[in-house]
Amino acid sequence: MAKFRLPKNSKIAKGKTIDVSAGTKNAKTFKVYRWDPDSGENPRTDLYTIDLDKCGPMVLDAIIYIKNEIDPSLTFRRSCREGICGSCAMNIDGTNTLACTKSIKSVKKEISIYPLPHMQVRKDLVPDLNNFYKQYASVKPWLQSKTKAPAKKERLQSKQERAKVDGLYECILCACCSTSCPSYWWNSDKYLGPATLLQSYRWLVDSRDDATDERLDELEGPFKLFRCHTIMNCTNSCPKGLNPAKAISEIKKMMVARGN
Ligand code: SF4
Ligand code: SF4
Ligand code: FES
Repeated sequence: MAKFRLPKNSKIAKGKTIDVSAGTKNAKTFKVYRWDPDSGENPRTDLYTIDLDKCGPMVLDAIIYIKNEIDPSLTFRRSCREGICGSCAMNIDGTNTLACTKSIKSVKKEISIYPLPHMQVRKDLVPDLNNFYKQYASVKPWLQSKTKAPAKKERLQSKQERAKVDGLYECILCACCSTSCPSYWWNSDKYLGPATLLQSYRWLVDSRDDATDERLDELEGPFKLFRCHTIMNCTNSCPKGLNPAKAISEIKKMMVARGN
C-alpha cells in the first residue's frame, strides 16, 4: 500500500551552510540533498553559496566546483558533460533534467538539487538504477533477425524505414522520464516505464527486426505496458525532447491491430 508520510529516518534535516562567495557580486546558493547510508543519520540539505565567476555556466559545473573546492564527499554521477551519456540526471529546481545541460542562469533564485525522485538512493545524488536497467534488458534491446546477415555489407533500409527510428534512437537512458511518471512511482516493480517502452518501440519499428510478435507478447498483461495512463509527465521532462508517451501509444495501437 502507498505510504503518504515519510518514515522518521527519511525526514530531511537542515544541514550545513557554507558560504565561500565573499567579495563577489556574482554569488549563487545551491541547496543540495545529502545522504550517507554509512552515517546512520537522516538525509539533510546543505547550502553552498559560491562565486559563479569561479565555475562554468552549467549546474554540473557548480557541483563539480563544490566537490573539488569545498566538500569532496559530495557524490554524484557524471561523465560526458555534454548531454549524451545520461549519467548526470537529477532533479533540479523541481524538474528532472541533466545537470550538464541545465544552465545556472536559467534559475533565478537558489537552486535546489535532489536525486531523481521515487528511487532508492545509494548516496547523495546517486539513485539506484538496477531495476531500471533490468527492465531495459528485459525488452531485448538489440536486433533480432531471422534472416542471415548479408555477406560483407550492412542490412540496408530505405530512407523511409530509417526515418521511423528518428525520435527513438536518440534516447540516452537518463531515466528522467520514468522517474517523473506517477504510474512508475507506484508500480516500478511491474510497470516498465516510459524509457524502457520507448526503447522497446525503437526495435518494434525497425524494419530489420523480425521479433515483433515476440516483443509484443512480452508486453502483454495489465502492468508492463498498459499501466501507462497518458499523464504525459514523461514527455514534458525528457531533456532530449523525445516523446515516450507517443511511443507507448503507438505500441498500444500495435497491440490492438493484432487483436489483443
Ligand atoms: S504518459 Fe504514461 S509513461 Fe508517460 S508519464 Fe504518463 S503514465 Fe507515465
Ligand atoms: S526518453 Fe528522454 S527522458 Fe526518457 S530515458 Fe530517454 S532521453 Fe531520458
Ligand atoms: S554528464 Fe553526460 S549527460 Fe550529463
